[in-house]
Amino acid sequence: MKPINIALDGPAAAGKSTIAKLVAAKLSMVYVDTGAMYRAITYKYLQLNKTENFSELVESTELSLTYDEEKGQRVILDNQDVTDYLRENDVTNHVSYVSSKESVRSFAVEKQQELAQQKGIVMDGRDIGTVVLPDADLKIYMIASVEERALRRQKDNELRDIQSTVEQLKKEIAERDHYDMNREISPLKKADDAITIDTTGMSIEEVTDKILTLVEDI
Ligand code: C5P
Repeated sequence: MKPINIALDGPAAAGKSTIAKLVAAKLSMVYVDTGAMYRAITYKYLQLNKTENFSELVESTELSLTYDEEKGQRVILDNQDVTDYLRENDVTNHVSYVSSKESVRSFAVEKQQELAQQKGIVMDGRDIGTVVLPDADLKIYMIASVEERALRRQKDNELRDIQSTVEQLKKEIAERDHYDMNREISPLKKADDAITIDTTGMSIEEVTDKILTLVEDI
């Protein structure tokens, strides 16, 4: 197979990272979780007592991704592995705000484009097919009902020992989608040439197989 890049976008908790990881493993490609980059910048924003100086924040930031055989993608922020903090509620509740800032986006997008230069990448996020990799070989827009997304996220949170209720998650997911879809810079939207997959009621295997079939057709 010739080296390709796959862009996987969609709203919060639609199953993008689970599927992207599996597709990448099956095709011996590298999975890049761009949400984790925005979460790391948000982690720093919170550490800096919610600074409003986003340009200074990113200028003083060293951010890189490394890969661990067992644990997968790790996020290194200013020489510290912060991966385990990135799903905390405080980060989740501020990430849409922080990622709407122009300096934050240009900082993250530049890194993402660098990572994808050599191809062989499955990248998930909100603006991968529209802005980061407009020439991706395959673009998927993955959606699912808010109810199903909240239930999936609740299961995830239980595994990670994060406290939440399905009702609260539904509200947070809907709010985050609204913010991500209505921001001025690079809002979440389907690229014209993306293929929509509604994963409501589909199993992880079904979605993975569907994408693998689409890859075969490239
Ligand atoms: O994918 P995840 O839920 O971890 O993303 C967290 C947040 O980061 C999103 O709600 C969105 O605000 C932001 N994000 C973004 N662009 C991306 C990936 C994530 O704005 N490519």
